[in-house]
Amino acid sequence: MPTVRFVRPTPDGEEVWTVEVADGENLLDASRRVDAPVQTLCNGIASCVQCRVKIVSGGENLSPPESLEKDRIGNIFHITGERMGCQARVQGDVVVEILPVRLPRRSRRKKRR
Ligand code: FES
Repeated sequence: MPTVRFVRPTPDGEEVWTVEVADGENLLDASRRVDAPVQTLCNGIASCVQCRVKIVSGGENLSPPESLEKDRIGNIFHITGERMGCQARVQGDVVVEILPVRLPRRSRRKKRR
């Protein structure tokens, strides 16, 4: 069975969660089984993009991004090394970094009275 290692940098080093996954399981579901803090607002339906992770190694062991994922994170995933946890299916050993939550920008519109 493939192994996924989730890593989150901390001021003192890093936190690590390791889990064995069934072939084809996605990274978000794998993270839930070990309580690794991969974020989600949409519960894995590919609309929130909070589940982004950065591939540290083993990117070739993930399913290639499909059009939905490319639409959401852009077509530069091969440069950023980022994937959506709910879309990337595991096919071999992988190490990923859990990214901080991105909050939406505060609206700059002034309130109308
Ligand atoms: S969990 Fe919302 S886009 Fe992946």
